[in-house]
Amino acid sequence: MDRIDHMGALFMRHPATVMKSSAALARYVTCCLLGGALFLMAVTPVRADEIVCITCHSALPEKYGEPVKLWKGSVHAENGIACNACHGGDPRDAANAMKKDRGFLGAPKYNNVPEFCGRCHVGVLKDYLSSAHGRALASGGPNCVICHGNHQIVKASLELINEKSCSRCHSYERAKLIRGAMQETEAMVVAIDARIMAFKQVGTDTERMEKELFATRNRFHSLFHNVDVKKVIEESTRIKGELKKIETALAALDQQSHTHKLVGALAVAGALLAALLAHLLRKTFD
Ligand code: HEC
Ligand code: HEC
Ligand code: HEC
Ligand code: HEC
Ligand code: HEC
Repeated sequence: MDRIDHMGALFMRHPATVMKSSAALARYVTCCLLGGALFLMAVTPVRADEIVCITCHSALPEKYGEPVKLWKGSVHAENGIACNACHGGDPRDAANAMKKDRGFLGAPKYNNVPEFCGRCHVGVLKDYLSSAHGRALASGGPNCVICHGNHQIVKASLELINEKSCSRCHSYERAKLIRGAMQETEAMVVAIDARIMAFKQVGTDTERMEKELFATRNRFHSLFHNVDVKKVIEESTRIKGELKKIETALAALDQQSHTHKLVGALAVAGALLAALLAHLLRKTFD
């Protein structure tokens, strides 16, 4: 707890840190406790055009220049996680940037990728290591990069579970069961979110519901990496039960509300927007 508070203070002292939302921040703080020195480098606001890794590598050919282009469109770039946050090294000193004594780690080998990413994504690493995938890492199991890519990592979604990606090593059957169970719950989360936002826009106090949804959503999105079909289905069902409680509270609000119609219209607009976004996202992933 003490350390979390300390991390909080750290962020306060670095207002230029590019954390976009309190959600990302909260997860970042929890996921980065073991990030240590690398964490500090990650949050020290160095502008992209001042990072020597980027200026030098931009001018390099092929596999040495490509990472810069790919990284620019990534969720990491968006959150201020630059080359040195992952690879170590000194982002301010071109002559010594890749020296071991400046903390340079190089590029990880296949089997070392999970630990490499897991310095920040601590919870995911733990689930992954204890899963069938993690246990099979040295004998054909997928590492993080197989599913997420390396430099162009984007926000994760269930679209990552698809036949093309998941039938490279085994049949799609079990993957399909997981996607099916999670998709229904995801749809509920999206719909509830739109309804809460609609109430919020007309001035209803939705803080408690927002908090509940936030916690439930986080728990839900930490389900996947165990890839245990039975566990994912059971837990998704349990989470759906919790979401139904929020739906009940929303229904009560619906009844009380004088602004029922306006809220309805906003919810429909919200749902349409969500559907459009989902459609565009799917297109990007196809
Ligand atoms: C002055 C130019 C220059 C700077 C500055 C620079 N690099 Fe490099 N980097 C290179 C070149 C050239 C190579 C390929 C040859 C080699 O491995 O030394 C390379 C290779 C790499 C590799 C691949 C190593 C491997 O094992 O295959 C990584 C990862 C890397 N750089 C990351 C970084 C990071 C992170 C920084 C900033 C902290 C950085 N570089 C700064 C020029 C640079
Ligand atoms: C999110 C973590 C992460 C970030 C940020 C990141 N890299 Fe990498 N990089 C990796 C991983 C993981 C590999 C290992 C390759 C693989 O497994 O696909 C790698 C490999 C490399 C390689 C070796 C490529 C090869 O084919 O041998 C270079 C060069 C490199 N990165 C440069 C960079 C540069 C320059 C930046 C900043 C623009 C950067 N990386 C940002 C994770 C990262
Ligand atoms: C230095 C810390 C750090 C390292 C190392 C790192 N990440 Fe991240 N990652 C972040 C931060 C910060 C975010 C943005 C906040 C968030 O969404 O958690 C993020 C976001 C992500 C997301 C999107 C999360 C979402 O909500 O959809 C994925 C996926 C991801 N990282 C995968 C990886 C993979 C794979 C690696 C290794 C190749 C890696 N990360 C290495 C810090 C790191
Ligand atoms: C690089 C190869 C590889 C890829 C790609 C891959 N898997 Fe696997 N997967 C394995 C291996 C190896 C096992 C363990 C042996 C087995 O059960 O088939 C496994 C097992 C599983 C299991 C059974 C877990 C258990 O506890 O019984 C599920 C479910 C699964 N994978 C889902 C997926 C999904 C979903 C994807 C796509 C997002 C995927 N896999 C992509 C290699 C892979
Ligand atoms: C078999 C494919 C697969 C592998 C291997 C894998 N992931 Fe994921 N990852 C996914 C999928 C699918 C999701 C989306 C789950 C969801 O939407 O609930 C995801 C979600 C994430 C998220 C966002 C979690 C959140 O709370 O929103 C992060 C961060 C992440 N993965 C990092 C990693 C890291 C780090 C590793 C390696 C230790 C890894 N992943 C290995 C498929 C994979």
